Order: sequence, then structure tokens, then C-alpha cells
Amino acid sequence: MLNFDFYAPARILFGKDEEKRIGDLLKPHSKKALLHYGGGSIKKSGLYGTVTASLKKSGIDFVELSGVKPNPRLSLVRTGIELCKKEKVDLILAVGGGSVIDSAKAIAMGVYYNGDIWEVYETHKTIEKALPVATILTIPAAGSESSGDTVITNEEKRLKIGYGSARLRPLLSVMNPELFFTLPKEQLAYGVADMMSHVFERYFTNTTHTDLTDGLCEATLKTLMKNALLAHKNTRDYDAWSELGFAGTVAHNGLVGMGRAQDWACHGMEHELSAIYDVAHGAGLAILTPGWMRYVYKDNVNMFVQFAVNVMGVEGSYRDPDAVIQEGIARLRDFFGKMGLPGTLSGLGIGEDRLEEMAKKSTGEAFGREQPIGGLKKLYWRDVLEIYNLVK
Ligand code: NZQ
Ligand code: ZN
Repeated sequence: MLNFDFYAPARILFGKDEEKRIGDLLKPHSKKALLHYGGGSIKKSGLYGTVTASLKKSGIDFVELSGVKPNPRLSLVRTGIELCKKEKVDLILAVGGGSVIDSAKAIAMGVYYNGDIWEVYETHKTIEKALPVATILTIPAAGSESSGDTVITNEEKRLKIGYGSARLRPLLSVMNPELFFTLPKEQLAYGVADMMSHVFERYFTNTTHTDLTDGLCEATLKTLMKNALLAHKNTRDYDAWSELGFAGTVAHNGLVGMGRAQDWACHGMEHELSAIYDVAHGAGLAILTPGWMRYVYKDNVNMFVQFAVNVMGVEGSYRDPDAVIQEGIARLRDFFGKMGLPGTLSGLGIGEDRLEEMAKKSTGEAFGREQPIGGLKKLYWRDVLEIYNLVK
């Protein structure tokens, strides 16, 4: 096990009706908030009315900024920064999914950043200060409700880059599984693929003596798969959504990755797809992950046998680890198929013409500074291209 520093302070308020007391929860922290949300699902579901009534009742003044798109855009972040400065906002309340929360975090640090906030994403420089961000989660997926991360798309440059800082961990996050009932089935599937990937990126490692986190990862993955199928069958299954919501936070608040080298190649490869083709993050991951597994497993056969047996329930001969692993990967692909997720890039409408460009961007080769991605196996742009080709 490696040394680690674990600090995950986001307060999670879980359960029915918790969003109704958002005003009281925020009152000690805010006099004037920015209410930030997406394209309208919160108005359709009635959540907007609940939240604004609660803020008003608690005497919290607020201004609004809506219109966050999936793969949240830099231009709206810039608008939000100006609005917060002008209106002297002291807290941002993000009501939505990862895109809204990530946009809120970008605005929160942009208010104090002296310069264009995109510089922070490009240079990964340390930020000194950010406005507090509170969230009401409406989709279990990105884990942004407890992470210190934000991923923003620069639509002019066609780049999607993540940034992380402990200062961006939300002050508090409300998670009422009933708010997930209105999600379309494809969003459920994208979210599950993303949550599973957050575990995979930490689980697949060459670090040894990681019994506890191995077990936590495996339990989280099995919880996600079992309950995803239940929620897929019945989109109003409160208990299934509860398990998914809690597992999504555990998957990405850092705990299951402590003491182990992490991978993150699939996320790196996926961000290139989203940046150019504006596809859903989880859809890209569901396609790339089985391809990545096929490409890298020989570098750590034991790890992939463990996955096939402990997570995918494969039985087989110790003398034929390859067959066990291939069956594990096939079962994972089968699960994604049952969730309605595409299996190939062409299934997402992505052709072959820009694969090399994306591979070169993913490792920095396109910018003249190649750094391999991935922890379990280092991938250079030619490796990434092979993986894209495996799943085209
Ligand atoms: O915009 P509205 O109308 O609200 O619709 C949204 C959006 O179209 C809809 N939706 C959300 N909750 C709903 C709902 N529709 C009906 N009922 C509800 N209850 O779902 C669509 C997708 O929302 P989005 O916020 O984009 O989804 P998600 O949470 O998957 O976030 C994806 C973003 O998070 C980033 C991804 O790269 C992507 O940009 N990530 C952020 C991370 C982080 N900050 O730690 C880590 C992740 O790896 C990920 O990269
Ligand atoms: Zn993700």
C-alpha cells in the first residue's frame, strides 16, 4: 500500500425531502446565492419551485444562471463569473448533475482568479480561493457532488480538460433518490458507466497489499450493476436509486483509491471523444473500457483474473487465466448492452477520420509534449490509437 492523504469533507444529506430544507442549510453560509442549473429538467420536475421557495423562506437572496449543457461550456462559465462579481454573490447552489456542478465550481474559482479561468485548466496552477459551492444532485453519475474536480469544455478550442483542488469540494450536497425518478433510461445508463469507470480507474493497479480497497471497489461495482438493472426495469425504484446514489459518491470521493496507484487512461481517452463529438461521457466510457481491458490485461493478468472472478462471477481454470479474463470482459460488455449502451464508436456516430488526432491530443503529442497516460500500463498515442481502433 502507498502513502496517502485522505480528506473528503463534503457533507452529504441523503434521503427523501432533504431538498426542501436547502434554505435552512445554506442560511449560515449565504446572504446572496447564484442558483445555477441546466436546460430545464428541474423546472419540469418541480424541483425548481421547491428550491426557490425554500431559499425565499429562509431569506436568502438569489440570482439565476441556467443553460448549462452536458459537457459544460467555458463561455457560460465566463458569464457566471461576471454575474457573481456584479451581484456580489457569496455562494453557488448547483442544482443538477455533474455538468451543472462542474460549471459552478469553475465559476466559484473564477470569481477570485485574476485572469481568464481557462488558464487554470490549461496550466493546473494552484488556486488560492473559491466561493463555496452547495449542490442538489439530480443524477448519480459524475461524483462531482463530493469530489474536488471540475471538467470544462472550451468549445472554441475543442478541448475538454479537468482540474482538481481540495478547495472545490462542495460545502454540502443534497441527495434525494426520488429526484432521480425522472431520468431518462439512457441517462441512467451513462451515469452507471461513469460511476463504474470511477471505480475501475482506481481498482486496476499494479500496487499490491490493497485488500481493503480491493474489497470496497468490488462491492461498489457489484452494487452498481445489480441496482442499475433494477432501476432500468423500474425507474421509480427508490431503493435501487438509493444504492446507485450512495455508490456513485463512494466511487469518486477518493476513498476507494487510497493507497494505490491509479490509472485514468479511459477518462483521458474519453474526454477527447466528448471534446470533439460532444458525446455523453458515460457512453464513451462504456465503449472504451472493454477495449482498454483487452489491450492492457497482459500487463497484470492477476488483477484482471481477480476482476473476472470477484466482480463478474466467472468460474474457470487457474490454468487458463486468459479465458477467465476474456469471459469477464465479455460479461461486462454484455451488462453495458443490457443497459442499452453502444459497443462501438460508430454506434455513437464517431467515424475513423479523427482517431489519430484524438489519440495525439490525449497524450499531449499533438502539442509537442507527449506524456503517456495510464497507471497500470503506460499508453502512448500509438497505443491509444490501437484502443480506438479496437472499438471502432
Ligand atoms: O440540463 P437538464 O435539463 O437538467 O438535463 C440533464 C442533462 O441533459 C439531464 N438530467 C439531469 N438530471 C435529471 C435530468 N433529466 C431528467 N431528470 C433528472 N433528474 O441529464 C443530462 C445530463 O446531465 P449531466 O450533468 O451532463 O450528467 P452527468 O452528471 O453525467 O455529468 C457529466 C459531466 O461530468 C463530467 C463529465 O466529463 C461530464 O462533462 N465529470 C465530472 C467529474 C467530476 N467533476 O468529478 C468526474 C467525471 O469523471 C466526469 O468527467
Ligand atoms: Zn467520469
